[in-house]
Amino acid sequence: MAKQAYEYFKIDPWKMIEEGFNHERNKVAESIFSIANEYMGVRGYMEEGVSTDTLLGSYFNGIYENGLKENETHYKGIVKRTHFMVNSVNWLYTKILINGIQLDVNKQEIRNFTRSLDFKTGEMKRSFILVLDKNREVKFTFRRFLSMRPPIYGYQRIEIEALKDSVDVEMEVGLDYSILHWGKYNFWDVLKHDGDSHSVKAIGKTKTTNQHVFSGYELKTNSKVKTEPFSSEKVIGHKMTFVLNNEKIQIDKLTTNIIDKNTESKNPNLWEDGIEHLSKQPIYQIAFEENQKYWEKVWHDYDIEIIGDEKNQQGIRFCIFQLQQTYNGVDPSNNIGAKGLTGEAYSGHAFWDTETYCLPFFIFNNPKASKNLLMFRYHTLDNARKRAKDLDCIGACYPIATLNGDEACDLWQHASLQFQPSTAVSYGIWHYVKNTLDKEFLYDYGIEMLIEISRFLLSRGDWNHNHTKFGFYGVMGPDEFQMMVNHNAYTNFMAKKTFDYTLEVMDELKRIDSKKYIKLSDELNIKQNELKAMNEASKAMYIPYDKENLLYEQHEGYFDLPHIDVDKIPVEDFPLYSHWSYDRIYRNDMIKQPDVLMFMFLYNQSFSKEEKKANYDYYEPRCIHESSLSPSIHSVFAAELGKMDEAVKFFGFATRMDIDDYNRNTCEGLHTTSIAASWINIVYGFGGFRSDGDSLVLNPVIPPMWKQYSFKFKYLGNLITVVVNKKQVEITCHGQGVELMIYGKKYQIKSNLKVSKDVAS
Ligand code: BGC
Repeated sequence: MAKQAYEYFKIDPWKMIEEGFNHERNKVAESIFSIANEYMGVRGYMEEGVSTDTLLGSYFNGIYENGLKENETHYKGIVKRTHFMVNSVNWLYTKILINGIQLDVNKQEIRNFTRSLDFKTGEMKRSFILVLDKNREVKFTFRRFLSMRPPIYGYQRIEIEALKDSVDVEMEVGLDYSILHWGKYNFWDVLKHDGDSHSVKAIGKTKTTNQHVFSGYELKTNSKVKTEPFSSEKVIGHKMTFVLNNEKIQIDKLTTNIIDKNTESKNPNLWEDGIEHLSKQPIYQIAFEENQKYWEKVWHDYDIEIIGDEKNQQGIRFCIFQLQQTYNGVDPSNNIGAKGLTGEAYSGHAFWDTETYCLPFFIFNNPKASKNLLMFRYHTLDNARKRAKDLDCIGACYPIATLNGDEACDLWQHASLQFQPSTAVSYGIWHYVKNTLDKEFLYDYGIEMLIEISRFLLSRGDWNHNHTKFGFYGVMGPDEFQMMVNHNAYTNFMAKKTFDYTLEVMDELKRIDSKKYIKLSDELNIKQNELKAMNEASKAMYIPYDKENLLYEQHEGYFDLPHIDVDKIPVEDFPLYSHWSYDRIYRNDMIKQPDVLMFMFLYNQSFSKEEKKANYDYYEPRCIHESSLSPSIHSVFAAELGKMDEAVKFFGFATRMDIDDYNRNTCEGLHTTSIAASWINIVYGFGGFRSDGDSLVLNPVIPPMWKQYSFKFKYLGNLITVVVNKKQVEITCHGQGVELMIYGKKYQIKSNLKVSKDVAS
């Protein structure tokens, strides 16, 4: 694998730390030091501004804008207008002039620069000393955090200390709605604002989607600091001037942000609601302590400890921390963007990544949040129905990329040919219900989605000319380097699973609640012959397979494709999309990410070890891991197959992908899916956890350089801790007790169990 780590941040088990300012790494650091709480997020930018590459990104989950113009295509099914998460009010707006010169760490002499993010409190802190001359030095400390509960509150603290002679300070703090998106366009109108000597508030509106954001703050400062409100067209705030004599002042800005995502009807009480919440906002210290308690609970329940590997210890905690910041079950109208709330790449869109990569973490840590994620799909079922019609099909086709439920990907080969988002939703429902037993969700919401997805698949799939095989023609599977193929094994396999599960649930509902079954059948107009057709399609589903070599063929004809040796591709050619013409990528057997291995991962226990080995050995050398979704899945297989060196190599790549900027694009935002996949990598990879069979399975292995590791998960009300060392596996259960299959043997665990690793084969 040609990708290399760029080691820049300091290693620490509970923090991210940058020591010394390096303007070339500024945007990477901004992504790494992002803070969020699912409701909103801000990158770790320098609020006072800096004269180097920077992205002042401030985002709200579900606040978006429409693409600049409509695509004037007459081709049916091609997306006419995209949408994207829009950069929103910069509520950290700050300007500082010391002795008349604007503070800028890139231009002025500074020392002792540090930026850090504490996983135990969620606070980001930045400090440095500005050296004006030998008699004048000023120490700055900037702190910020977002309240996890309630998630509408943001906190900023600025401390300025004259270390030697006195200095004159002029400052502005405020709310800036003039923020630029893509560094070019502003999408905000300020509808209303108001202010007095210690507070301001304003409502901004997005230009074409008509969504509203209330932002208001209260300043808490020493009496020495005289504050005076000001406003320009889109910046509202306070100016302050004061002289600092060998002393320190502290300015706290307590900000309330409330969004109204509705694009049609405006909340008439937004202004009053905002003011009321602002008046109740707790002070910095109190909210900080509340946050500390929140994170204490998170680490109590979700921590992964690795003894003997400091780098990956930091990596995995960073991943858990960032995933929790991105999504934690606040609101079922939120989803998880491929870059979370940390940047504008991928336009803030959610992908099939949510159900296949992120959902497991939530199912086994925070079931309420996992239900919310599925409810997002339920609430956007009508959009998916419309998309199916656009594609000349029936039922519901879920979008490849979206914020509001509509398809937002304007690359037709992805938006029109990839169906893994739809099968991922059905997989997600199955996986969630199987491991939470939430049948209420299944019968009230899940089944409707399953029926509509199955209808779509039935109408998009086809029979071959002599009616012996069913499958999908002209598709693209998860591997985006093979397009317009027939019988992609992943698509066919997952469609078969979707049909089977839909029919199983319909059958079950008929047995246990016939009234509900009849009501559902009437409402959705389900006909018996439709169910029969699904059954026939499933039975005849063609999944290309070479029996002799135990190999699934990625799609019909894949084995005949020209071979290229991916290790011979020069490193300068990456990312390939920018260096190879699009069509050149499609003309050989190179793959971007797991495709066959992907369905073998999702339904792991349906395949024998020999099959897994054969397919891993065949496909891994053909994969260039151009997607951040790739390394962790390979690591899981490598761990299962006893290829520990490879498992460790892929794991390090996945877990520290952003910290060490492996893909050289962390500056654009964090790879949230890879972050979620790191958890999968430990729990399913080294822990050998399996959740697709009759009982939960554990087959832990331990990388040679680790002394011990532990992870936790929740299952049916139990909190289970698994500690693995070279000799044994210890499982502790808090709750009623669970049944676990460990190294092939079933155990009922009530409180504690130790299994010697000698029993592992
Ligand atoms: C991958 C997709 C993924 C998307 C967002 C792409 O590079 O090929 O599978 O859904 O990134 O993470």
